[in-house]
Amino acid sequence: MVLIAPSLLAADFGHLAADIKTVETAGADWLHLDIMDGHFVPNLSFGADVVRQLRLLSKLFFDVHLMVEEPEKFMTQFIDGGADQITVHYEACHNLDTVLKNIKTQGVCAGISIKPDTPVCVLEPFLDSLDNILIMTVEPGFGGQKFMSRLLPKIKETAKLIGNRPIHLEVDGGINPETAKLCVEQGANVLVAGSAVFKSDNPAEVIRLLRQSGE
Ligand code: DX5
Ligand code: ZN
Repeated sequence: MVLIAPSLLAADFGHLAADIKTVETAGADWLHLDIMDGHFVPNLSFGADVVRQLRLLSKLFFDVHLMVEEPEKFMTQFIDGGADQITVHYEACHNLDTVLKNIKTQGVCAGISIKPDTPVCVLEPFLDSLDNILIMTVEPGFGGQKFMSRLLPKIKETAKLIGNRPIHLEVDGGINPETAKLCVEQGANVLVAGSAVFKSDNPAEVIRLLRQSGE
């Protein structure tokens, strides 16, 4: 079974409450929250105060994707704001082992994300501390980009590395019902989709189709 994680980055920022209700009612499993600092990625999004307000509106699993340098400086405010999972970037951390332990000690799930050109082997030393691996299928920083199909073998390689461990394999970037199917075939089980869901006239139907891609 796949989990569907709409990315709020593509929602209408003037009507976040309504957009969250739409995807929650349509059966989304997680809400993917993209945090950008203008350094690790060339863009800004929103901060922990916004997450804290959204927490009051939704019971969805809050999947926080920290695209920030030195995430250890910021992660606690997102956990206090209601994150259920914090995923940090391998490329942004100086001491990843400590960062992951710190996240787990605070009682939430921990994940690592890797950019398109970062090899899967860097994940190996951390497997025992991980709840989630996020494979970026576009360069991080912006919604609405085209899925990089050259990364499909990387998803398969990651699934092989995970083996039987209870670690989610999440894909993020350019995911729609067609690309989702390709990713699920390679072993992905969490589908992040921003534009495909929120820019659609019928988000509930897109969520249904995404779910179908895993059946
Ligand atoms: C990109 C973000 C994604 C983004 C996906 O850096 O990590 O979560 O919102 O957007 P789409 O689904 O539009 O590619
Ligand atoms: Zn993301």
